[in-house]
Amino acid sequence: MSGELSPIDRAKFAAAKRAAEFVEDGMKVGLGTGSTAAWLVRCLGEMVRDDGLDITGVPTSTRTATLARDVGIKVVGLDEARWLDLTIDGADEFDADLNLIKGGGGALLQEKIVATSSDQMIVIADVSKQVDTLGAFPLPVEVIPFGWQTSKALVEEMLSAMDVLGTSSSLRMNGDAPFVTDEGNYIIDLHLTRIGSPRQLALALNQIPGIVENGLFMDICDVAVIGHGDGRVEVKDINDGTVHEEKINFVETDNLFTDLAD
Ligand code: A5P
Repeated sequence: MSGELSPIDRAKFAAAKRAAEFVEDGMKVGLGTGSTAAWLVRCLGEMVRDDGLDITGVPTSTRTATLARDVGIKVVGLDEARWLDLTIDGADEFDADLNLIKGGGGALLQEKIVATSSDQMIVIADVSKQVDTLGAFPLPVEVIPFGWQTSKALVEEMLSAMDVLGTSSSLRMNGDAPFVTDEGNYIIDLHLTRIGSPRQLALALNQIPGIVENGLFMDICDVAVIGHGDGRVEVKDINDGTVHEEKINFVETDNLFTDLAD
């Protein structure tokens, strides 16, 4: 069955499978959003079901909450959990310092709150998400609906003074209507091409009235588990300064793979 999955899905699965090994009995775990995080949630569900793993999950979106419950993970909100041992989530881009762009799935606000409420954040991604400089992926910014066009204009004006290559932006749509986040807000995607000073940009964006949060995750991620289509995973720990490579054996996990692919 694993052979029927695309190389990119194999890479996402490999990263998720390896990252699941960081999860221990009794942990409170932040559960990310997106296709890679969905593989992780299914892997953890399998561990709960087959190995009796006892964890409490804090989802970062309604989508993830539904999936986590479906696979048998106990789910609570962040206010009940208060502080988490670990958050594992995907990313749209990550650089050599493990700074991230997130929010391609529109869940950046809950994702950032949950990740910063955790002792450790692990990002899981296929190797295509690794970049030298952030910014090719449009940077998502969450904005309240009231006066969003003014907020968008203020963002574009601010961008002209920033170290970025592009300054255009677009309201994210869902068909004919604006895309609406779990918090009832809109997303403006910034087409920057290259972000020279992501730390400065992240601070400047959050100064603009109406902007709730931006998708730059600076100094939040501790470990990246980077998956390849052949099952190799690199585990990069930014605090230890270590990188080591391992291999996920798709044959041994074939039953799980079959379940996941359904
Ligand atoms: C969700 O809002 C995002 O931050 C995702 O984590 C990110 O878009 C990665 O998604 P995929 O794993 O689907 O690529």
